Amino acid sequence: MDASAHVGVTGLGVMGRNLARNFARHGYTVALHNRTASRTRDLLDKFGHEGSFLPADTAEEFVAALQRPRRVMIMVQAGAPTDAVIDEFALLLEPGDMIIDGGNAHFADTRRRETALRERGLHFVGAGISGGEEGALNGPSIMVGGSAESYAVLGPMLEAISAEVDGEPCCTHVGSDGAGHYVKMVHNGIEYADMQLLAEAYDLLRHAAGYTPSEIADIFRSFNQGRLNSYLLEISAEVLAQTDARTGSPFVDVVADAAGQKGTGRWTVQSALDLASPATTIAQATYARSASGRRRLRSSHRGLPGATTDASPMSRSEAARFASRVEHALYASKIVAYDQGWTMIQDAAAAYGWTIDLAAVARIWRAGCIIRAGFLDRVREAYSADPSMISLLTEKDFAEEIAQAQVPWRETLVAATRRGIPVPALAAALASYDTLRAAHLPTALIQGQRDYFGAHTYQRNDLPGTFHTHWDEPDRPETRE
Ligand code: 6PG
Repeated sequence: MDASAHVGVTGLGVMGRNLARNFARHGYTVALHNRTASRTRDLLDKFGHEGSFLPADTAEEFVAALQRPRRVMIMVQAGAPTDAVIDEFALLLEPGDMIIDGGNAHFADTRRRETALRERGLHFVGAGISGGEEGALNGPSIMVGGSAESYAVLGPMLEAISAEVDGEPCCTHVGSDGAGHYVKMVHNGIEYADMQLLAEAYDLLRHAAGYTPSEIADIFRSFNQGRLNSYLLEISAEVLAQTDARTGSPFVDVVADAAGQKGTGRWTVQSALDLASPATTIAQATYARSASGRRRLRSSHRGLPGATTDASPMSRSEAARFASRVEHALYASKIVAYDQGWTMIQDAAAAYGWTIDLAAVARIWRAGCIIRAGFLDRVREAYSADPSMISLLTEKDFAEEIAQAQVPWRETLVAATRRGIPVPALAAALASYDTLRAAHLPTALIQGQRDYFGAHTYQRNDLPGTFHTHWDEPDRPETRE
């Protein structure tokens, strides 16, 4: 076989197949490989006319079909299957060749694999790809890790197949080794937060304001005309407007209320804990999914008393005013959730030695990915204007909007609390905001408690050094350690 393929894709599940087609549609010759050859044939039968494909039955033939430096994209399940495929191909490749993992791998695995392959002269590129199957085919957002050298060769191809906004590709070299997969993981954490915030807004509009799912679909559509404009809001309206064909009931009333996850939200929260990064809105969104799936735990608590305060039904005009408050609450909470994601990225960059352009992260999330949203353009502008900005919450325009949201945001939570409607993500976002802006936190008491029972010591506001109080000897002065 001629070594004429620009790129090879192994693992032709729906994501791999669509990426291969996307490359081919952009004029690249694509070598194809799958463990079971029937998938390769199926792709060729159905989509062979879309471009130039070179099918290979064996890993050896596949590698032989690739131009050098060889670009092997693996699209297999994260974890052990990815390691097995890497081991198989690494033996067949030569120095300078590259393996690209386009799956949702854990960034620590990507760091480990990158080191191991670098020692063998191979480039390992962990590329986070967002946008689901539709994005993979028509233009995803691609968060690329690995060496700058590998990006120089690979980047133009990935940029060509990615989504585009105003002529700018939604693909960038995020940073070395696991940086691309890290940023993809945080993308998914934010995705969990966005989805949970929307679900809580729906719950409030339904059970506090008394709107039907199809009315809430219309409210979401009107929100989507403004600053909350996003893909997730758009599809939430579609889901709420959907009627179950079997029963004629709203779709959301026939679907079990137990949300699953494949694990990227959990990884985000685990990493946030490791880095002491207070990603509380993302964490609450992830726990909310866990709690929703705990059937026994939930059924054993069902029927416990809730609100006893008066929460009479809202009139139509009160409901309309409430919907506008929910819009403020949703928007302010969204800024907090995204800001927590950016804080995590900054914390991880410091911990793992990555240099990450925060404006570029916002730029490549504007289209192609699941959290694409109009306001990301403003986030991009804010980080471009001040690359070392610590927080979105203090940026002039966002700060102004959050200031305007104060009353409606808090009123929304009051309404939820009075009616006993759980709003863990909205509440976590407000608590995060109040925590960060507080001049004093009650944690001095915690330091006292720790010193009392465990001599864990504390620092003072007025003197340098570390201190311990002799709690059982009132007359003895504290010790300076
Ligand atoms: C994307 C998505 C995609 C997927 C995740 C989350 O960016 O295209 O994030 O990666 O939807 O697997 O799915 P779970 O909700 O099952 O964790």
